[in-house]
Amino acid sequence: MINKIQVKICLGSSCFSRGNQELVNAVQRYIREKQLEDKVAFSGDHCFCECQSGPNIRIAGKIINNVSTETIVEILDQNLTDI
Ligand code: FES
Repeated sequence: MINKIQVKICLGSSCFSRGNQELVNAVQRYIREKQLEDKVAFSGDHCFCECQSGPNIRIAGKIINNVSTETIVEILDQNLTDI
C-alpha cells in the first residue's frame, strides 16, 4: 500500500480568516479534478505557529506561507507532480 502524501491546511483562526476558509474548497477541488484521492490525504490542522506568514499549508511536512486562491493550484502542481 502506498503512503499518501499529507496535505494539511492550517485552520487556526488567523489563517482561517486570512483565506484558508476558501482554500479548503480549492484544495478539495484540485484533488477531485486530478483524481488524487488515493494518493493525497488532505486534512485540517491546528496553528503552525507561523501566523504572521499565513495563510499556511503544509505539504509532506513542508510549510508553505502566504498561500492564496491565485497561487494554490501552482503550489499543488509543483509539490504533487511526481506522485
Ligand atoms: S493560524 Fe495558521 S499558523 Fe497560526
